Amino acid sequence: MALHDPAAEIDTTTPSVARMYDYFLGGKDNFAVDRAAADRIKAVVPDTYELVWENRRFLRRAIDHLAGLGIRQFVDIGAGLPTRGNVHEIAQRAIPGARVVYVDNDHIHPRSVHGRQAVREEHAAWVPPPRSFGSALGARTSLPRSG
Ligand SMILES: C[S@@+](CC[C@H](N)C(=O)[O-])C[C@H]1O[C@@H](n2cnc3c(N)ncnc32)[C@H](O)[C@@H]1O
Repeated sequence: MALHDPAAEIDTTTPSVARMYDYFLGGKDNFAVDRAAADRIKAVVPDTYELVWENRRFLRRAIDHLAGLGIRQFVDIGAGLPTRGNVHEIAQRAIPGARVVYVDNDHIHPRSVHGRQAVREEHAAWVPPPRSFGSALGARTSLPRSG
């Protein structure tokens, strides 16, 4: 299936929370408008980088804990852009067949290079806007059964 031209549908004039977050994490899926907005936040809250990275560490601990309890299916709502240590990567270290549905209302995600890569990962699916949360949950049926 051919993908649309990503640049044609992404608003690069308005900051996006997902892209600003990506910038704070050192990612490349962000534009000048996102970096400028993120820098303004950092000027007001100098600890922003630490807060963002602490949030990622919490995410890792939470998934490790849940996977340790045997949870093998996750819905990541407000997932942000794919980065190092995505939920399916953390969960699948403990449970190789763990499955994850990612949901985010940011339009860059499914069309970004990293987003397409994440979609191809086994046992992980990305639900792009404008599909509803209900249809996101329904997407689990398109994932391979994990056991
Ligand atoms: C701060 S990032 C968090 C990323 C990741 N969950 C983490 O903890 O590192 C918040 C994400 O929520 C997404 N978001 C905000 N409102 C949303 C909504 N109504 N539906 C889906 N995603 C939303 C934003 O686009 C952004 O990517």
